[in-house]
Amino acid sequence: MMRSEPRALQLNEHGQLKHFLTLDGLSHAILTEILDRADSFLSMGEQSVKKVPLLRGKTVVNLFFENSTRTRTTFELAAKRLSADVINLNIETSATSKGESLLDTLKNLEAMQSDMFIVRHSDSGAAHFIAEHCTPNVAIINAGDGRHAHPTQAMLDMLTIRRHKGRFEGLKVAIVGDILHSRVARSQLQALTTLGVSDVRLVGPKTLVPSFFAEMGATICHDLEAGLKDVDVVVMLRLQKERMKGALLPSESEFYRLYGLTEDTLAWAKPDAIVMHPGPINRGVEISSEVADGRQSVILDQVTNGIAVRMAVLSMAMSGQLQSEDGAATGDEK
Ligand code: NCD
Repeated sequence: MMRSEPRALQLNEHGQLKHFLTLDGLSHAILTEILDRADSFLSMGEQSVKKVPLLRGKTVVNLFFENSTRTRTTFELAAKRLSADVINLNIETSATSKGESLLDTLKNLEAMQSDMFIVRHSDSGAAHFIAEHCTPNVAIINAGDGRHAHPTQAMLDMLTIRRHKGRFEGLKVAIVGDILHSRVARSQLQALTTLGVSDVRLVGPKTLVPSFFAEMGATICHDLEAGLKDVDVVVMLRLQKERMKGALLPSESEFYRLYGLTEDTLAWAKPDAIVMHPGPINRGVEISSEVADGRQSVILDQVTNGIAVRMAVLSMAMSGQLQSEDGAATGDEK
């Protein structure tokens, strides 16, 4: 079967989001709308009543085929703050472990009149596959697929950068570590490029930062000092051992010696550079505790911003569904 283009699949005929699968092909205007909406939800998080009725009466299913704490709980909080009913499906104990196929599980969830699936899966392309095979009026949100994409993580990172730096143009950003296996790095690079950051450096050993990334608009650096020189933003990434096949590294201590972010190596960046990490962090492997907990770290801001960004994406996809011809054809309210 021919795969549909992500752009065609995730936008409705008015150019609005109806699924959120990848940042590839999304415009500057859509990314900015996500950030602006998230900003307004953030101020709501500070009030005592944190709920808005945008998803009232809608059923959101968290479908996590791969472990996650931060991402799953922040998606759940986001859906609840939009007043949706939320179901968390534990795949370990679900029927798929009894031999039911993924598509049969999905058909059953659709028959329960679910409105949205939030999907995390170890296979690249899983969310796209589900979006192609579900009825068109169920919104599919990618919460990380293999090493392919993690679009809400990248957008919460963009919100964190915008709130700390106030702009994207002219910024220098270094993404350091295991780029090869990172869906986060791929989505961040797409977001940064679309939002106008022209100096993005991917930093790490040759085995983890292959040269083909240069085609995506980044500079490849195998030397940490050159990579961090005068940057405004440092993004550290974990070694994703669960995706590594064969020996790509001499040892963790050797990696830390060459690429670890410590107070000494952070001094190569601008004095007001911010330090980010999608988590989970591995202290003493890619980042020292002093830096992770230090004054330049915005790692916990990223978590807070994640709820607001996910609220923005869920509400936009739901409204895009309702305004699409497909949604109307199934009798949904306009
Ligand atoms: C990332 C992921 O799962 O891709 N984490 C996250 O979503 N918070 C990065 C990682 O696992 O290293």
